[in-house]
Amino acid sequence: MSTRRTRTIVAALATVLLAGSVAACGNSDTGGDGGDGKIVLGFSQVGAESGWRTANTTSIKEAATEAGIELKFDDAQQKQENQIKAIRNFIQQKVDVIAFSPVVESGWDTVLKEAKDAGIPVILTDRAVDSADRSLYKTFLGSDFVKEGRLAGEWLVEQTKTATGPVNIVELQGTTGSAPANDRKEGFAAAIAANPNLKIVASQSGDFKRADGKQVMEQFLKANPDIDVLFAHNDDMGLGALEAITAAGKVPGKDITIITIDAVKDGMQALADGKFNFIAECSPLLGPQLMELVKKVEAGEEVPARIETEETTFTQEQAKAALPNRKY
Ligand code: AHR
Repeated sequence: MSTRRTRTIVAALATVLLAGSVAACGNSDTGGDGGDGKIVLGFSQVGAESGWRTANTTSIKEAATEAGIELKFDDAQQKQENQIKAIRNFIQQKVDVIAFSPVVESGWDTVLKEAKDAGIPVILTDRAVDSADRSLYKTFLGSDFVKEGRLAGEWLVEQTKTATGPVNIVELQGTTGSAPANDRKEGFAAAIAANPNLKIVASQSGDFKRADGKQVMEQFLKANPDIDVLFAHNDDMGLGALEAITAAGKVPGKDITIITIDAVKDGMQALADGKFNFIAECSPLLGPQLMELVKKVEAGEEVPARIETEETTFTQEQAKAALPNRKY
């Protein structure tokens, strides 16, 4: 039985008991659909911190329209407390399904339990939570962030295999405590351990934002005169860092090798122009798969516990070839 029907029956029974009247049965659907039969999805987005996020939001909104799903969209402006508030609002509004991309990994158990107690299934998109209780959400749809970091590191290991001296790396981390920042850092560190010449000399968060990437890179350049490589956890921070590198009189892509993650259009353009050197892709186009999952969980169907997005990597030559058809 669909979760909407189950909640409807529970709500209708409660109404009958309270009113003590058979007439109350006429209030047949107290779910969030406003009575037009559409599935209602409450979606809490992280924010609008990057080109990737904008593309992700567009994908979700377009796919909801396409699938005939009523979308209640909330932008949390990169604050966990805003996401918790949004989820509580969705519960109050009795939406059929809740989906969200958690800004950080920890601290979700209480609100997820509230959704579970209200009988509303939850889908995680893009970012994971660290809850030990796997019954608090139905599925996770998104990328393998550890793999993305590993692919970035493996490329660097290959490029530097003949290096005889130290290779100094600076790292621009994503939002502190977020799954992509934690996992990309882990994957990259594990891969570069293969070459003892590779050393991370500075590592700091740029919050996945262009302006912060620029500012932190300025500090890195002041404190470290011999930076060989920048590993940025996303294109936007890498693009901000480009400005700092150029302003410091260095040539991005030549004096400093730049590796990023995402492969959004601006990043791909920088790669094709020779300013970036390598990008590990992270796909933001999760909308259509999410809507399929929403329909399934709403209908009470089983879904896989984890669904990973297919992704690739790009060199400068590959970016030139891919750019004309890049959708985002
Ligand atoms: O969670 C995905 C990450 O969040 C993207 O790599 C980054 O650009 C975004 O802000």
